[in-house]
Amino acid sequence: MLKVINVAGARPNFMKIAPIVAAMKRRASEFQALVVHTGQHYDDAMSEAFFRDLDLPRPDVYLNVGSGTHAGQTAAVMQAFEPVIVREKPDWVVVVGDVNSTLACAIVCAKLNVKLAHVEAGLRSRDRSMPEEINRLLTDQIADLLLTPSRDGDANLGAEGIPEARIRFVGNVMIDSLMTQLGRAQQSSVLTMLKLEEKSYAVLTLHRPSNVDEQAAFGRILDALEEIARRLPIVFPAHPRTRKMIDELGLGARVQSMKNLRVIDPVGYLDFLRLTSCARLVLTDSGGIQEETTVLGIPCITLRENTERPITVEMGTNTIAGTDTSKIIAAANRALNNPLPESNVRIPEFWDGRAADRILDALIEVTLRNPDSSGVATGSDQPT
Ligand code: UD1
Ligand code: UDP
Repeated sequence: MLKVINVAGARPNFMKIAPIVAAMKRRASEFQALVVHTGQHYDDAMSEAFFRDLDLPRPDVYLNVGSGTHAGQTAAVMQAFEPVIVREKPDWVVVVGDVNSTLACAIVCAKLNVKLAHVEAGLRSRDRSMPEEINRLLTDQIADLLLTPSRDGDANLGAEGIPEARIRFVGNVMIDSLMTQLGRAQQSSVLTMLKLEEKSYAVLTLHRPSNVDEQAAFGRILDALEEIARRLPIVFPAHPRTRKMIDELGLGARVQSMKNLRVIDPVGYLDFLRLTSCARLVLTDSGGIQEETTVLGIPCITLRENTERPITVEMGTNTIAGTDTSKIIAAANRALNNPLPESNVRIPEFWDGRAADRILDALIEVTLRNPDSSGVATGSDQPT
């Protein structure tokens, strides 16, 4: 029996750990699953809503770290997570994605010699100005088991000199959640509540600091949205960072004057899945939404200069438009004038709803291969 701590901290983590924890509960003779929530995200709409929508069990431990600077937040997670590891002595810790909580917990495990698995390993934007790229690079360097969502992840890790024995291609676990919940999402009343007709609106999400913390970039995106909104309404569930920046940058009046841009609070997973699956177009700077639109066959315009998820471009749904006003407008017009053929949805290898079981199998296989390779360092092992 393997005792595994599954870590989640921010919105995009919950839909990644939910299928893993569910699979561990199903395979209870092989796994004892614990959930640690760092509290990086804490608003009901950014955290609790996902526990409800994804049937995720209550966290066994809540670290309550909250917001902060990069160093402050990362250090707070490390300090709060270390005693949990010392107390629980897990066989494995599973971290997902690329947020500050991911790296913070990874460092704690590496220092205490506890086996660490990284789900969504190997993705690279090659843009080190993104905090997530730093989190991805460093977590992958110190993880014992690197679980990749697509073959480009294996290639990236190989090019960085990571031995093949540490890498397993398991597919995209976020898509396990999508496939499990899509039926329930179709029951959501969000379209009626927002008075939207299927295939007649666009969905927008924005939260990258390079877009929303920068007046110039945010302004260029708003210029493009003003033009696109002439063709169809745009629903905008605004991330708390983005709300805050709209106020701080003095953009509130401009945003309010755009009548076809409908700013709403972030919505839960089921409502968001319903919104995106029925949209004519999605505009986003999110990582996960590029992947979900690929599986749903919805055109996605990515408001970034690069992506760590090139497979979504290869599959034909995603366009990397950057933040140049005219490029965004041109990409949106192209997508609106040439709808994707419904019969032609291409889904990447192993984005099949069964990634969680492959992750569990990999944990067992690697443990059996190296039975005695880890152990929590005792107090006396740690430098004073
Ligand atoms: C974080 C991740 C990013 C991920 C995003 C998903 C890092 C470095 N960034 O960015 O990779 O794509 O989550 O949503 O880990 N806030 C609230 N309530 C909350 C959470 C945040 O009001 O529940 C506000 C606070 O003002 C906070 C700001 O949002 O300072 C930013 O939150 P933070 O977790 O630092 O980064 P995100 O931009 O959310
Ligand atoms: N999401 C959601 N409600 C929203 C916006 C996003 O449920 O209002 C979901 C979305 O379906 C995806 C995840 O949140 O599963 C993506 O998270 P986010 O964009 O915050 O982070 P990123 O993927 O960029 O790290």
